[in-house]
Amino acid sequence: MLIKIAKPSDLHESDVTPESIYLSRRRFMGGMAGLGAGLALSGHTQAAADDYSDVPEGDAPDWLKEKISDAKWDAITPSDPEKDKLAPFDDASQYNNFFEFGTDKGDPARHAGSLETQPWSVVVDGEVNNGGRFALEDLVKPAQFEERIYRLRCVEAWSMVIPWLGIPLAEIIKRADPTSKAKYVRFETLVDPDQMRGQRSSLSVIDWPYVEGLRLDEAMHPLTIMAMGMYGRELPNQNGAPLRLVVPWKYGFKSIKSIVRISLVEEQPVNSWQQIASDEYGFFANVNPEVDHPRWSQATERRLPNTLFNSNTIDTRMFNGYEDEVAELYAGMDLRKHY
Ligand code: MTE
Repeated sequence: MLIKIAKPSDLHESDVTPESIYLSRRRFMGGMAGLGAGLALSGHTQAAADDYSDVPEGDAPDWLKEKISDAKWDAITPSDPEKDKLAPFDDASQYNNFFEFGTDKGDPARHAGSLETQPWSVVVDGEVNNGGRFALEDLVKPAQFEERIYRLRCVEAWSMVIPWLGIPLAEIIKRADPTSKAKYVRFETLVDPDQMRGQRSSLSVIDWPYVEGLRLDEAMHPLTIMAMGMYGRELPNQNGAPLRLVVPWKYGFKSIKSIVRISLVEEQPVNSWQQIASDEYGFFANVNPEVDHPRWSQATERRLPNTLFNSNTIDTRMFNGYEDEVAELYAGMDLRKHY
């Protein structure tokens, strides 16, 4: 399926980034001079002009730095950058949900830093002809990284705009060569109570590992990515390093972090939140302003950052604004039933 260009869906796939922009961006990433007038004069989108100069340098291994510097920048951006302004890096990396490290929004930033993410391997198994355990670099290296600036809408009714770096999940699935029995993709997060204090907590409601799932056509959709970076650098641990899913038209809980297993399966997986409260959280979890959570409305959202005096409340859009691209996946389905 092709992504349509700059329609009401509020998305566009940019043209190939002019080489001058690539070069200035890459120079910047290499720690040299920031972006100059060349970019501003190029007439490219505002999003492209973000130079991430305030973002602290990470500690990525060399292969990942190389993949990032060769990324296709602004591959998908919001068509109205004024309306969909990037969240500052500090907000995106300090207001998190990652229950493996605690339930407070600040817990992941406080406690995930020491998670060992190098080396990292991922098991690809189930209904595939080409499965196995892969070193992360072998899994992702064959594909070019792309920057995807997406809205992230949490089921808790807050949202942010985040510039991810990653590859289409479809690239990984195609290489795994699914059998005809593969109908769904199931994902698992690392279980390591020694490193993940939330997994040691007797108060935890989650039966670890954190599990998520997608229907195969959702997983193959070009908007669905596996992210390894954000804001021009590798993912901070609290955002799901070294590898997380990002599905922009679904509530944020689908975007599972620190993935160690990807299984192609025949049956619809039961995801963690569905297991905890199936009347509140479904398998599909498509952003839908018309289907309220039993305990709160989903018609609006607080776009972060906001302040005590300005909640920055905006209307929530069907499929988080990606309706043109994904509505056809659900043609004929009762979305009240399949929430
Ligand atoms: N993945 C794991 N393994 N554990 C979690 O607790 N929380 C989810 C999702 N992925 C979660 C997870 C929820 S509820 C949301 S809203 C997003 O991560 C938040 O992503 P962010 O912290 O990068 O904004």
